Amino acid sequence: MRPPRQLGVLLGILLTVALRAQTALPQEQARWIEPGQAATIPAELQFDDSLGRLGVVNASGPVDTKGHPFFEPLGVNGRACVTCHQPAYAMTISAAAIRDRWNATHGKDPIFAAVDGSNCPDLAQNHESSHSLLINRGLIRLAIPWPPASEAHRPQFSIEVVSDPTGCNTSPTYGLHSVHPAVSVFRRPRMAANLKYVTNPTPQFALKLGGLADVDPETGKPVGMNFMADAREPTLRSQARNAGLQHGETRGPLSDDQVRRIVDFESQIYVAQIADRNAGNLAEAGGPAALGPRAMEQHKPGVLGDNDYDPVFQLFDVWKHPATESAQAEFRASVARGNNIFMFRQFWLRDATHINSIGLGNPLKRTCATCHNAQMTGQDLAAGWVDLGTTNYPTWTEPPLYSESRELPVFKITCDKDAPPHPYLGRVIYTSDPGRALISGRCVDVGSIVMQQFRGLAARAPYFSNGSMKSLRELVDYYDRRFDMKMTELEKQDLVNFLGVL
Ligand code: HEC
Ligand code: HEC
Repeated sequence: MRPPRQLGVLLGILLTVALRAQTALPQEQARWIEPGQAATIPAELQFDDSLGRLGVVNASGPVDTKGHPFFEPLGVNGRACVTCHQPAYAMTISAAAIRDRWNATHGKDPIFAAVDGSNCPDLAQNHESSHSLLINRGLIRLAIPWPPASEAHRPQFSIEVVSDPTGCNTSPTYGLHSVHPAVSVFRRPRMAANLKYVTNPTPQFALKLGGLADVDPETGKPVGMNFMADAREPTLRSQARNAGLQHGETRGPLSDDQVRRIVDFESQIYVAQIADRNAGNLAEAGGPAALGPRAMEQHKPGVLGDNDYDPVFQLFDVWKHPATESAQAEFRASVARGNNIFMFRQFWLRDATHINSIGLGNPLKRTCATCHNAQMTGQDLAAGWVDLGTTNYPTWTEPPLYSESRELPVFKITCDKDAPPHPYLGRVIYTSDPGRALISGRCVDVGSIVMQQFRGLAARAPYFSNGSMKSLRELVDYYDRRFDMKMTELEKQDLVNFLGVL
């Protein structure tokens, strides 16, 4: 007997509602995804953030977290990749979210695991002060083995610990003179999204290395050397394996299948700001072509932004000359001016290793886009790392930054007599993170950091690898001091507004 039509429809509706209740993940629950939480992440999601809304796109469609190695606890500490790479925070995490997590879980969330979610594993873990770098600045401890294992990277310098506020670098168990000698540095998690841009292109010659690029150990092909603060991982696969072992404390290595599923997932997720409190919808038809997560999905990686036709973040002409007078139109015009400053406003780049030191001249009259030239992400298309002065002393870290940097360790690096020195700081360098030099062993690399993509900035403060810039305004002020740019108040505001919609 056929049930009456209405009944069928009703059943259908009930079934859909029941299925939804079981699986779909509304924005509020997706804001913090717990390891092992069974849910379906929809193909498109939006999250409120500090300036408007962040947009997330899963290009391959809805993602089931159940049994998925990016979302399941990996090892003894109960963490998953998602613990530190949350969709709501542009596939990294903000310091504010971590502070909320501490309050909500009384420090029991697996993100606070002793291994690297505390200032040092040998501190009393139930005290907030033992996790201050994570809670206040969003920093994770990375224990980089010292010296580098590879004979090719035999160190050209010695390291002494000058100041050790976390105790980890002088710890008998974890420090520089322990059984497994390591240098502990503290860095922000980076975005595990938009990754096609981060892994492309893969030139054979690395300008900043002055030699051949690293190769993928599995295929023998050159790799882009443009992710992780020090480019130590050749591929996303090797990155996932080591992230499992180090952050996840897995008992054994992840299986090939787990690694494949992790890399597949992170390679199809795109994030970017999608709405701004003042600029409105950023992804509307006819608007600036680079904005919103769909644009990230659709554009090609490996394209160099030029100064005329193909700017780094495309043209903002449609917003330049508002047809109507409104607060929104005015704000959009400010964003368009900010893009112009980023592309065209010249200043003297000075003493930045791997930019000024590679034959282009020092000083060099150029723009933000000279270093941040990769279309859509604002990374450097050339493989590698630059010493902007974010970690070395004397840096451009006068107040308010200097007081904060006292929470970080300080190392004294002394270069060997016959090694090429740091081009601007000589043979004795004080630094809170030697950056690439911990991998390459080279003096010239001390303080050089790989640029990160600047998308979804409004969802993931603070900025720079050491979390030293609490806001975009602080970041812009840093550049103004660092390169003596003499920006006007209006220019600074325009630049901040521009960065905020990316
Ligand atoms: C405890 C927090 C934490 C966990 C858990 C974690 N990561 Fe990360 N992730 C980081 C930090 C910190 C960095 C930056 C390290 C550096 O720059 O040296 C990073 C960097 C990355 C990057 C590089 C992005 C770029 O552009 O440089 C990728 C990709 C990534 N993680 C993926 C993963 C995957 C996959 C997993 C799970 C297997 C994972 N992470 C687990 C903290 C974490
Ligand atoms: C000499 C090269 C150079 C120039 C010029 C330069 N930057 Fe950067 N930028 C870097 C490097 C290197 C980093 C990464 C530093 C770190 O993480 O410690 C960076 C990082 C950033 C970030 C990323 C922040 C984050 O945490 O994701 C933003 C945003 C940024 N720069 C904006 C600008 C703006 C705006 C200008 C122009 C006023 C500019 N940059 C000029 C080299 C440069």
